[in-house]
Amino acid sequence: MRFTRLGTGRMLLACLLVVCSAVPRADTALPAAAIATAHPLATDAGVSVLSQGGNAFDAAVAVTATLGVVEPYSSGLGGGGFWLLHRASDGYQIMVDGRETAPQAAHRDMYLSKAGVVLPRQSVDGPLSAGIPGVPAALEHIARRYGRLPLAKSLQPAIELARRGFAVTPEYRRMAGFRLSALEQSPAAAAVFLDQGTVPDDGYLIRQPDLGRTLEAIAGHGGDGFYRGPVAAALVQGVRQAGGIWTAEDLHRYTVVERQPVSGSFRDLRIVSASPPSSGGVALVTMLNVLAGFDLAGVEPVTRTHLIVEAMRLAYRDRAEHLGDPDFIPVPTERLTGQQHADGLRREIRLDRATASAALPVPGPEGADTSHFSIIDRHGNRVAATLSINYPFGSAFMPAGTGVLLNDEMDDFSAKPGAPNVYGLVGGDANAIAPGKRPLSSMSPTFVESQGGVAVLGTPGGSRIISMVLLGILDLSAGRGPDSWVALPRFHHQYLPDVVQHEPGALDEPLRAALQQLGHRLHALSGRYGNMQAVYWDRLGGQVLAASDPRGQGKALVWRVDEGPQAPVPRQKRDGKAMESHGQ
Ligand code: GLY
Repeated sequence: MRFTRLGTGRMLLACLLVVCSAVPRADTALPAAAIATAHPLATDAGVSVLSQGGNAFDAAVAVTATLGVVEPYSSGLGGGGFWLLHRASDGYQIMVDGRETAPQAAHRDMYLSKAGVVLPRQSVDGPLSAGIPGVPAALEHIARRYGRLPLAKSLQPAIELARRGFAVTPEYRRMAGFRLSALEQSPAAAAVFLDQGTVPDDGYLIRQPDLGRTLEAIAGHGGDGFYRGPVAAALVQGVRQAGGIWTAEDLHRYTVVERQPVSGSFRDLRIVSASPPSSGGVALVTMLNVLAGFDLAGVEPVTRTHLIVEAMRLAYRDRAEHLGDPDFIPVPTERLTGQQHADGLRREIRLDRATASAALPVPGPEGADTSHFSIIDRHGNRVAATLSINYPFGSAFMPAGTGVLLNDEMDDFSAKPGAPNVYGLVGGDANAIAPGKRPLSSMSPTFVESQGGVAVLGTPGGSRIISMVLLGILDLSAGRGPDSWVALPRFHHQYLPDVVQHEPGALDEPLRAALQQLGHRLHALSGRYGNMQAVYWDRLGGQVLAASDPRGQGKALVWRVDEGPQAPVPRQKRDGKAMESHGQ
């Protein structure tokens, strides 16, 4: 890893450090641990578990459970996620798939009217939109198989916060305002998340005693505390009374699946990312394979942006056509991530004009809300995890007495394969609804490894997740550090609709004009998107860095044992060395 744009003095210092340390440090001797999450209380929970002798996996359990308490609009016990793990002792890497599953009574046309028209709100609001949650099973699985601490210890910070309460922030208010009418439909959810039917003020304490008790049941009985017994009974009763289709059997049957991550390379970098039922790893590796055939550093910005957009377009086309739950459909992962396929895609790209996206399947609509965290401990164990309940506050439905806000991840299936949905998008047959099936995801927890260092990164953001991680990897490959990856202005193309979406500041006026000349249709977004959390172990430089997206309210922290558990690292300054941030 080289950080370009470091001053000459600092370059010299970096070289001296490399020479003086002679060999890269072993995996068991990182100078510090690091955690970046979307909420300061979740970062603190992770550090507290590390300080009690826990490893990165224990910290991941603590962070997952705590995010579910303090970021209820993004993830939680009622949702799912993917946890990408690296065990330092033997280099073992695995993805824990805790994605939600469709209930057994779900069927392909469940969101269609008799006339075959998509009923949009039914897959978004209320209990019919909820898949069977995976987070509780994943918590137990990760703690038991990979952690060093008892599950009960790692869940303690979340239990305390659920009981004690957390303070409403402007972000909370924005999300609750967006989902106010849906939250009002669920008395239990409204009682917890609203203040007498209105969006609470900043600083108002959200207390969740029922959620605290459910977390305690998991602490005491593992997954059985959720999928069996009184909590399971209350979940099923609440869902069915409100018109949902869950059964006790659905909950009993839920299991996490360990899957081989998708891997690939880009120049000197090894990429390890999420495998199906996420589309993230496959799409990322495809895009990087395509782009590896071009000299991105040597071309003008307009050509560079054009090539990246074209690579996004082609990979998202594959996504729509081929990707779904590999336990239900054959997913040609090897072919899609192979060089031959990339060579073929590259030949479809013209340097002098944008490709017109034809009317082929595209990704289903995904919520912009989800959460990512990245952890590395002092032994070199790592976790990249992206968690979701889909839309802000998920389905906005909470079965009484459970404190569990249910996801609306069923909306990530194609409600009507092959036909446009309410957003003007169409989804692939591979992602049609079936009992027990996992909906296609874009969540892309990722490791990027090289001789020089190891990055752990990811972000929420629905279908834009993959393109954000791509831009982050390209920025890393260009020699910049995590502060830059999380902050850089973003652009996105997902095949259809055939537009380049871009954040304010991502494409300057001359670049926009040149892209339009090439035939690209541009869509300027009024706001910014994503909430990337990244940590980086700079092996050669002997430092650990962490960064949290300035778009969010997260906290990145580099923790050395001797500094105690609370050593926040100011933005732009990590390990005493200023890092420069540069846009795309
Ligand atoms: N619900 C967002 C995703 O899984 O991609």
